[in-house]
Amino acid sequence: MTFEFKVEDHVKDLEEFQAELDQIKDERGMLMQALHLAQNRFGHIPIPIQQIISDTLKVPMSTVYGVITFYSRFTLIPKGKCDISICMGTACYVQGAAEILAEAERLLGIKNGETTPDGLFSLSTTRCVGACGLAPVVTVNQEVHGRIKMVEMKKLIAKLKKEYTAEEEQGA
Ligand code: FES
Repeated sequence: MTFEFKVEDHVKDLEEFQAELDQIKDERGMLMQALHLAQNRFGHIPIPIQQIISDTLKVPMSTVYGVITFYSRFTLIPKGKCDISICMGTACYVQGAAEILAEAERLLGIKNGETTPDGLFSLSTTRCVGACGLAPVVTVNQEVHGRIKMVEMKKLIAKLKKEYTAEEEQGA
């Protein structure tokens, strides 16, 4: 599955988004504001949206792209229904977060920053979520799961796969 953004399917949203951009284009911090607006409205920020932002705010495409890829809050492709995020803050990192991320990548068959082809799972990393006492921490759709070592990660992903696949089959 590719995540193609078809402009013709989003005409109304694009018009409204353009109007929002026109309102903020002379304000300070307008690029971050624009990216938040885009992420909230479209669920990701694909190339056509980046181009609109670049043209309206008179900011180079390379800058728009650079900011999107710097902040884990912004994504180039849609997030999965189940968004798994691994904290890479210091407390989690020293407790093995990198190994947990590698295991999650292996189990889901995707890399950090990607979404599974069926759109069910996405995997990302985040900075400290403020639950260092529970390190290493993994969030699932913003819900915090603490003390997730390798064994727990395996169990968590197995459980989520079961839940989300069943949900998908029921919805089908
Ligand atoms: S470093 Fe992971 S919650 Fe603080």
